[in-house]
Amino acid sequence: MNKYILVTGGAGYIGSHTVVALQKQGFIPVIADDFRNANPVVLEGLRHILGHETIVHRVDICDKPAMEALFEKYAFTGVIHFAAYKAVGESVQKPLAYYQNNLVGLLNILALIEAFEVQNFVFSSSCTVYGEPQGAKEVSEATPKQLPESPYGYTKWMGEQIIADFHRSAPQLKLMNLRYFNPVGAHPSARIGEFPIGKPNNLLPFVTQTAIGKQAHLTVFGNDYPTRDGSCIRDYIHVMDLAEAHVAALTYLMNQNEGLLEAVNIGTGEGTSVLEIVKAFERITGQPLPHVLGPRRAGDVIEIYANATKGQELLGWKARLSIDDAIKDAWAWENYLATL
Ligand code: UFG
Repeated sequence: MNKYILVTGGAGYIGSHTVVALQKQGFIPVIADDFRNANPVVLEGLRHILGHETIVHRVDICDKPAMEALFEKYAFTGVIHFAAYKAVGESVQKPLAYYQNNLVGLLNILALIEAFEVQNFVFSSSCTVYGEPQGAKEVSEATPKQLPESPYGYTKWMGEQIIADFHRSAPQLKLMNLRYFNPVGAHPSARIGEFPIGKPNNLLPFVTQTAIGKQAHLTVFGNDYPTRDGSCIRDYIHVMDLAEAHVAALTYLMNQNEGLLEAVNIGTGEGTSVLEIVKAFERITGQPLPHVLGPRRAGDVIEIYANATKGQELLGWKARLSIDDAIKDAWAWENYLATL
C-alpha cells in the first residue's frame, strides 16, 4: 500500500499542521490547494519544520478534471478533505459562494474516491452541527443534530448528510466526520499558524492581534449570558492535537476490514469562557490585553464543549495540550508574523 494521502486545503490552518503530523507518522501528504485562502509563506514554514519540500499542487477542488489528474497520478491511500470556506459571517453575505465551493468541492472528492476506489476518507466537520445544546452543554456524537444558524453551518450539516447518503450507496468505503470544536494555537516552532484574512472573526487571533497592536482592543461579545462569568464558553482545541486526530482517524480507517461511517468529536472535553481566555492570555504572556465588554454577537452559541470519550475509545486519541500551550504558541506565531 502506498503512503500518499491527499490533503485538500493542505496549505490552510488545520491542513498545514496535519501535513506535519502525517509526515511524522510516515505518510506522504500531497497538498491540493489553490491558495485563495492560504499564504504561500506556509510552504517555507513546512520546509523549515520538515527539512524538505512538500508535494503541492495548485488546484481548485471544484476543478474536477484537475483533481482527477491528481487521483490518476498518485493512487491515494486516503483523502483528508479540508478545503472549504469557513467564515460564519461572510457566509451570510455570500451564501451561493459557500454552497458552491463547500458542496461542489465535497461532491467532486466523493465521486473521485469512489471512481478511484480510495478506501479512506476524513471530512472536516464542525460542532456547529449541534447548534445550541438543549440541556447539557457537553455534547456527544449521540446528541441530536440541530439545524445550523448560517450558510457556513449548513454546508457542514449538509456535508455530513451527503456523506451519509453516499455511504449507503458505497458501503465498502471507510468514511469519518471529525467534528472540530474551536481550533487554536500554532506549531510550537511558530513557523506555521493561522493567517486571518482581514479583521479576524475568531477569538484567539483577535486577542493576539490586539496585544501586538494591530487591533485597538478586543470586544468581549456579551457578559450577561447564563454562564459562570457571563461570557460564552467554548472547547478550545490546540491545532497540534487536532492535526494528530486526523492521523489517528486515518490510521483507524486503514485498520478496518469493512466499510463504515463514523462521526467523532475532536475537543478537549473542557469549556473555557471568553473572559477566562483574556485572563489566561495576560497571565501567560505578561502583556496587558485592552478589552471592553460589548453587546452579544448575533448567532453565538452560549455554551458548548465536547464529550471526547469516543475519540479516545475508537481512535486512541485525546488532547494532550492545554489552552495555556495554545495561547503561548499563538502568541509566538503572532510575533513571528510581525517579523515577515
Ligand atoms: N468572541 C469575542 N470577541 C471577538 C471574537 C470572538 O468575544 O472578537 C467570542 C465569541 O462571541 C464566542 C467566542 O469568542 O463566544 C469564540 O468565538 P469564535 O468566533 O472564535 O468561535 P465560534 O465558536 O463562534 O465559531 C467556531 C468556528 C466556526 C464554527 C462555530 C460553531 O470558528 O467555524 O465554532 O459553533 F461554526
